[in-house]
Amino acid sequence: MVAIVLLAVALAATACTGGGSGGDPDAVRYTPGAAGIGDSFYPTLGNGGYDVQHYRIDLRYNEEGRVGGGVFIDAVATQNLSGFNLDFAGWDISDLSVDQAAVPFTREGEELVVTGVEIPDGDPFTVVILYSGTPEPYPSAALPFPIGWLSGSQGEQFVAAEPDAAHSWFPCNDHPLDKATFTIMVGAPAGYGTAANGERVLEDDGGGSASQDAGTASEWEMRTPMTTYLATMVLGEGWEVVPDPASSEASGVTVRNFLPPDLVDDAPPGLERTGEMITTLAGAFGPYPFDRYGIAVVEGLGSALENQTLSIFDRQMVAAPFFEYVLVHELAHQWFGNSVSLADWSDIWLNEGFATYAEMLWTEHVDGDAAYREDVANRMQAAQVAGYGPPGTPSPDDLFGGSVYQRGGLVLAALRDEIGDDAFFTTLRTYADRFADANATTADFITVAEEASGDDLGTFFDTWLYGDEIPEG
Ligand code: TRP
Ligand code: ZN
Repeated sequence: MVAIVLLAVALAATACTGGGSGGDPDAVRYTPGAAGIGDSFYPTLGNGGYDVQHYRIDLRYNEEGRVGGGVFIDAVATQNLSGFNLDFAGWDISDLSVDQAAVPFTREGEELVVTGVEIPDGDPFTVVILYSGTPEPYPSAALPFPIGWLSGSQGEQFVAAEPDAAHSWFPCNDHPLDKATFTIMVGAPAGYGTAANGERVLEDDGGGSASQDAGTASEWEMRTPMTTYLATMVLGEGWEVVPDPASSEASGVTVRNFLPPDLVDDAPPGLERTGEMITTLAGAFGPYPFDRYGIAVVEGLGSALENQTLSIFDRQMVAAPFFEYVLVHELAHQWFGNSVSLADWSDIWLNEGFATYAEMLWTEHVDGDAAYREDVANRMQAAQVAGYGPPGTPSPDDLFGGSVYQRGGLVLAALRDEIGDDAFFTTLRTYADRFADANATTADFITVAEEASGDDLGTFFDTWLYGDEIPEG
């Protein structure tokens, strides 16, 4: 029926214009969506012309190290589309369809270019892409080490994709501006544990399966919108989902961790403070934005990343004396970065400065006001010694440096001194609430701070965010 109506419209357009629709203002025109979403740092990340609603990622890892499966993308057109791009690097695509019809596609670098469709503005459509391959680490534009799908030293597999590696493991609209809900199904050989973001809704240990490959699988629902780079899957032989009832009870958030065999009955010291951390940060930032939290522990990541509801930690971080601070840092990202997401990667201080400031709030919670002041003063001195540049102007090949983290965190410490505790915490809570599940810019944050304080903070933010010199405290 729809096809017939469209055909009639097309014929009518042809009839009125005598063969060319160019001169008819009423003619329905279909054009390809843009190849980028408009990021000032990474112009090819993301795409235009549609808005993803939901991803279903369904992948199985086998003992030979190969991965196969598919991704199902529910999207809505935001223009009349004759084609559209997805971001996707590597892998072999065996099948691609739009609304169950095979359509032409080409691969141009990291752009997957779909053509031959006619999707009216506002219409929903579903893309199914079946693919397989041997996952490889991705050379991020922003970091000096590869990210994306990584292998750990115990054979475990995991994804850490910030900022630009989501499209190295699934085809997507790879930019925080297009958040979507996710269902992730992760399969692995028998004896493996599997995990992903959100709530585990299905678990199959393969025991009762009549299939030849009696592998294991689990399915996870992330019902709150998530940016592509925060999607993860983690799997490892003997790894287990371990509930933390005490933290769950204390915080009202279901806390579960995904731990290697030797930590299952012997949780790392510090991890038991998760509930207290959630409560402390909720006191400062407003309610925890999701219904679950926890960490996955792997060997070989080298650092930690705030994957939504399931941050991922290298084992070295877990064993380090500063583990508590990393734990609170990644937790803080659930508000700042994950719930409130960037609109442009150049604003990365809105993620990292805020998470670093949360470390100072933890010092205040644990050791009191004087310790907080000392922590701020020490970081200030270290920032001066290091000569950190302005956090508001990082470079695309160095997103995650000391300027962004430490001087970015000190912006908030200075703001608190400038406008006082009441206006400061109102600012943080209003910002977290107003931009929850959405995107914010530095200008948005400044607007909230000016509203809450009644002050003109233009000069304050100019010098702190963009000035070469660190302002005197
Ligand atoms: N956002 C992380 C943090 O500070 C840092 C980070 C960015 C990272 N990209 C990464 C860590 C990729 C591991 C892998 O909390
Ligand atoms: Zn961080």
